[in-house]
Amino acid sequence: MLSFNATRITDWSEDYLNFMSAHRNKKEAVNRWFPILEGFSNSFVQSIIHEQKLGELTCLDPFSGGGTTSLVAQDLGIKCHSFEVSPFMSQVCRAKLGKSYKSVEFIEIIDRIETMLSKCQTHNYKIGLKTISKKNNLKKWLYHKTALDSLLCIRRAIDEVTEVFPQYKDILYVTLGSILLQFSNVNRDGKALKYKENWDKKIYRRKLIYSTFIEKCKTSVLDDILNVERKSYDNLVNNIELLKTGDCRELIDQIENSSVDLVITSPPYLNSRDYTDSHMIELWILGHVNSYEDVRFLRRQTMRSHVQVKWGQYVLPNSMLLEDRLNKVLLHKERFWNSSIPSMIAGYFCDLEDLLLSLKSKCKSGALLYINVANSSYFGVVIETDRIIEEIANNLNYKVLEIRLARKIKTSSQQSSEVKWLRETVIVLQA
Ligand SMILES: C[S@@+](CC[C@H](N)C(=O)[O-])C[C@H]1O[C@@H](n2cnc3c(N)ncnc32)[C@H](O)[C@@H]1O
Repeated sequence: MLSFNATRITDWSEDYLNFMSAHRNKKEAVNRWFPILEGFSNSFVQSIIHEQKLGELTCLDPFSGGGTTSLVAQDLGIKCHSFEVSPFMSQVCRAKLGKSYKSVEFIEIIDRIETMLSKCQTHNYKIGLKTISKKNNLKKWLYHKTALDSLLCIRRAIDEVTEVFPQYKDILYVTLGSILLQFSNVNRDGKALKYKENWDKKIYRRKLIYSTFIEKCKTSVLDDILNVERKSYDNLVNNIELLKTGDCRELIDQIENSSVDLVITSPPYLNSRDYTDSHMIELWILGHVNSYEDVRFLRRQTMRSHVQVKWGQYVLPNSMLLEDRLNKVLLHKERFWNSSIPSMIAGYFCDLEDLLLSLKSKCKSGALLYINVANSSYFGVVIETDRIIEEIANNLNYKVLEIRLARKIKTSSQQSSEVKWLRETVIVLQA
């Protein structure tokens, strides 16, 4: 079926063993403030940077997520532009990339917040998410009253204290973000939020919520701030200035032509997961969205990798493989659980094609792009994302240097009778 001279897939699964998952970063300094599940690890980015020739580099990650590429690059003294559409994830990146923290100031801030919390029992925030707390017409709700009030009182204390110390707002919001689920009635479960067992009987006390927040600030966050303080002296690179919040398909225009040497990125996978859903609680409680209109706007800006938006008509990129797979998916129309599945699949590759086209002009000739993707399957039809990107990249005159097999991912129990595993790869392109 491959109409082009396909690149051989090389097995890197041993080299990349444990590298592809952000789980590895979970306990590492700074990353532990808000552990990211859907990213690659620091070691993965380090290994790619170490493959490059010595010399000054400019990096780019259009899908920043938790900011792994930008953060590792900064630690190595390398400039890195990055884009992230989710205002909450972007806040996580800013907090992690921040270098102007002073432990003495942070200790004073925690003291002030602690004092405020010992007095403040009110706030004026109204959270518009329908299921946020108990209402007459609801069978389930995300927070019991005391928990929600306590968390919002912490937000109020942060807002007050950061009027004087604005550079700590991101780090404090992210720390608050990191305890939001713990005191909610749900857990994050893949794409969705799932109610905890006996959630209706589990009441979290105000005192526990406050002390959990303060304790986290005093331990892991403060320890890491001390570390950042020590390291910042001899590293002048500040990637926070090169981080932009918004849609990479538009922001890419702001990058100077022929200026990028290295792209290390992982676009959302074509798995119909909407990151807006995964972080709905953080987005609403921290005030990144204030209405359903804000949520819709945010979803529209995301890559077409999910079906939370009606994507409408589509034009296919020039790929015979994609055309073939889409036609096979269309044969299963009666099994579609959402009518937007075909336009999502087509739209996903249109978005990647547009981005690769823009990247071609932003990259220096000879620049390398490392793109981490995974294949997907719909109704037993495997969509070989890596091969389709290869075909698109060939059409755009990239040289496809390598496709590295990173690992094989087991499919979900619903899919496993038709497709047992899917390939996760790193496509290496040369501009
Ligand atoms: C797989 S994650 C990237 C993880 C990242 N490599 C890390 O290690 O944390 C993909 C990210 O792309 C973001 N995203 C989706 N659509 C986007 C768009 N149009 N522009 C910028 N970012 C987008 C998602 O919010 C998500 O955080």
